[in-house]
Amino acid sequence: MSYFDSTLLTQFEGLETPFYYYNLDLLQETLSAAKAAADKRNFHVHYALKANFNPRVLEMVQAQGFGADCVSGNEVSKAIEVGFPASQITFAGVGKSDKEIRTALKHEIFAFNVESIQEMEIIDELAGEIGIRANVSLRINPNVDAKTHQYITTGLDENKFGLPNSELERAASVLRNCKNVDLVGLHFHIGSQITDMNVFKSLCVKVNEWKNWFEERGTQIRVLNVGGGLGVDYYGPDANPIADFETYFDIFDRFLERTPNQEVHFELGRALVAQCGSLISKVLYIKSGVKKNFLILDAGMTELMRPMLYQAYHKIEKVGASAEAEKANYDVVGPICESTDAFGKEVALPVSKRGDLIAIRTAGAYAEVMASSYNLRDEIRYFYAHQGQHDLVAP
Ligand code: LLP
Repeated sequence: MSYFDSTLLTQFEGLETPFYYYNLDLLQETLSAAKAAADKRNFHVHYALKANFNPRVLEMVQAQGFGADCVSGNEVSKAIEVGFPASQITFAGVGKSDKEIRTALKHEIFAFNVESIQEMEIIDELAGEIGIRANVSLRINPNVDAKTHQYITTGLDENKFGLPNSELERAASVLRNCKNVDLVGLHFHIGSQITDMNVFKSLCVKVNEWKNWFEERGTQIRVLNVGGGLGVDYYGPDANPIADFETYFDIFDRFLERTPNQEVHFELGRALVAQCGSLISKVLYIKSGVKKNFLILDAGMTELMRPMLYQAYHKIEKVGASAEAEKANYDVVGPICESTDAFGKEVALPVSKRGDLIAIRTAGAYAEVMASSYNLRDEIRYFYAHQGQHDLVAP
């Protein structure tokens, strides 16, 4: 049974497309499930703002009591503006500018996740100039294969992220000479959309090794930040609308060695917000090519870039269609002047006509936030559903 049944069809009729559609009830259920599973184990979850900073989505994540994981000075400012406590904000990223570092220092955020020795020295210098101390966690590249798409893996030797093992000895000694910086933790993030839970076990092994390495050298580690990466079911958004947070946290509970008072932090993005969002678009034209039938939508890579950038699969549905409807194969494409502008090839969909509404599912993470104005497209709009109430929000 699809979520996009004929009830929604009638509610969408007459609305200008394309738009993002967020089901805030599902978002709330997902957030509550994640928070309960984390609280049970005394784990701290920071929400990765980069996944989705739509206003109502962010407001609800904040209200649930999560911290914020930011990757730019603007994300830090946004997190503060919507009410995340500075003491629960981290700042990651390989290329933090001086301006962004100063912004984060002034807000006295919880910690910088430092990705290079040079960056650590700059944070030390800028903190000295402002006259405050900065907490840092060292981001270690553990060389663990996340077994996900090569474009979204981050913890291998060939990736630009984190400090390689060979640099840690030097990083530890440089740290000892930094006057304005305190080491609070170790940080790891090996990739996104991870569905093989064994990958997280392998990560735990590496975290334990590095934690011990530091402790053997007399450096106490207060925080073990294991990043994010928990995947969602893009093939079954109706069958599995909420990720299995229990199993995920349980792995860390069982395989991570913790000394008393050591905190475990997570940075979840996708698993919290992906399933509550869909991109709703309209069929503009149907065209029979020499080899294909094209379903040309009014949304394209400017609204949702994941299929074009990562060959990512998103389930495509005709809104309001019955399961028995006669089907045809279509290449579902957008209006943008690029051959890669296709949401799916040879997709079996109920026979469609101009004006039909199409839902592209599991589009709550890395979707609206990655929209662009290429081809001078209109700014993308969004629309929420909450306890049967709908309100369309114009940009
Ligand atoms: N922490 C760090 C340091 C990260 O780089 C990321 C994501 C996260 C946490 C959150 O990861 P999540 O729980 O969402 O997997 N645009 C790509 C995904 C890029 C992920 C970037 N980093 C996509 O659409 O698949």
